Formats: sequence, structure tokens, C-alpha cells
Amino acid sequence: MLELIDISKRFEENTVLKAINLTVDKGRKATIIGPSGSGKSTILRLILCLIQPDRGQLLLDNMDITKASKKELYEIRNKIGLLFQSAALFDSMTVEENISFSLTERPHRLTQKEISRKVNHALELVEMSGQNKKQVTDLSGGQKKRIGLARVIINDPEYLLFDEPTTGLDPVLSTNIENLIVNISKELNAATLTVTHQISTILRTSDDIYFLHDGQLLDPESPNTIYQSKSSIIKNFMNGKSSV
Ligand SMILES: Nc1ncnc2c1ncn2[C@@H]1O[C@H](COP(=O)(O)OP(=O)(O)O)[C@@H](O)[C@H]1O
Ligand SMILES: [Mg+2]
Repeated sequence: MLELIDISKRFEENTVLKAINLTVDKGRKATIIGPSGSGKSTILRLILCLIQPDRGQLLLDNMDITKASKKELYEIRNKIGLLFQSAALFDSMTVEENISFSLTERPHRLTQKEISRKVNHALELVEMSGQNKKQVTDLSGGQKKRIGLARVIINDPEYLLFDEPTTGLDPVLSTNIENLIVNISKELNAATLTVTHQISTILRTSDDIYFLHDGQLLDPESPNTIYQSKSSIIKNFMNGKSSV
């Protein structure tokens, strides 16, 4: 379970998060939406311990990661799978090398056979079986995105973080990635947190949708309720209207 309790964060005079609370259980998919600059990526960076909150607790598996030792942090980070907007693959490596890269860093070394089995399973999950030896430079944009996803899931993460996973993709590719996100979180029974402002992604990949407004999370909606939200801020956002 991922829990943010009264988390506040400011950058000099700019208070980005004002005592936010958020819980994502294993097997659930939460999505944070809101305008650019509202602090969505800041939440993900806090969870990754790239920055520290000014106040509050950040619990993963009931451990406060803001107080974790280096060793504990290393273990926690191994449980988190992260996909940014750009897949950021290594162009000089094959598909297989890109996917298995993080496995070779592990303290307990896996055999080549175990690595191959994991790579093949990850490729199967992203519907790219048999592409192991392909060079990354020979892949299309959509295929690169899938390999990025395969790399995320190779460590069987218990937490999945997606930052704008479909931004800049055409509608067909977006649908594709959205379906993969849903399938992968289910397969891993992960606690999934997606940050996006793409409507299709909000509707397809979420159980609970949180709007980040003025440093606070509004009451959650589901894909079924969001267009009838009592909040005019949320309704306006979904309909592409300005709230001011
Ligand atoms: N390291 C930083 N130093 C100063 N300001 C920052 C830093 N990171 C983010 N910000 C500011 O915090 C606000 C929220 O940023 P961000 O979380 O990236 O927004 P979003 O992902 O919702 O577009 C922005 O005003 C941004 O300029
Ligand atoms: Mg962002």
C-alpha cells in the first residue's frame, strides 16, 4: 500500500502541495490529473525520494520512506517501476539488453536462463514476443514505448508510477498503451499511480481519479462519475473549459 499523509512541499515561495492525503492499495489504479505546473510530477518525485517533503509521511508497505536508511531506500526503490513520457532506451543496445539491464545490477545474480525467462515474459506482456535481438534504432515510437514498459515490469514491481505515459502518442497507440497499463497492473497486482492530462488515459486506466487543485487533492471520482462531478473545476477540466 502506498500512503501519503499530510504531505506538504514548497519551492521557495511557491507552495506546491498543501497537506495532501492519498492512499493507493495493491491492485488499485489511482490517477492524478490537473493543469500543467499544478504539482503532479512533484508527487511522483517525492515517492521516488528524489526530493523530500517539508512535512508529512510517505509510507510504502507501512515504512516511512522519508526516514529510511540508504539500504532500506535501495530495497524500496526496487519495488517501484517507473515510466516517464519518453521511454529513454539505450540506442546502442538490443531490445533484450535494454530490458534486462537492471537485472544485472542486482546483488543476487540471476542465471542467464532465469534472465531470458523474465525477458520473454515481459515481452509477452507487452505483446512483443520474439523481438529480443532487435536493435532499438529499428523500432517504431510505439514499440519503444512498449519496450520501456517491459523494462519497468522486469523487476516485478509492487508499485507502478506513470508520468504522462500517453502524452504525444496518436489515439491508436494511446489506447494500446492504456490497455497495457491496465493488464500489467492487474498481472502484478501493483498499486498503480498515473499522472496524466490525457482524457482517454484518465478514463481507461483509472479506478480513482484525483484532481490536484491549488495544492490539494479534490474528492476522488471514478471514470463513471467524473463527467457528472459536483466540482465545477473537474467538470470544466474534462470539458476543456477554463475554471477562471
Ligand atoms: N526543483 C524545483 N525547484 C523549483 N520549483 C520547482 C521544482 N520542481 C517543480 N517546481 C515547480 O513546482 C510546480 C509544480 O511542478 P510539477 O510538479 O512539475 O507540475 P506538473 O507535473 O503538474 O506539471 C511548478 O510551478 C514548478 O515550476
Ligand atoms: Mg509533470
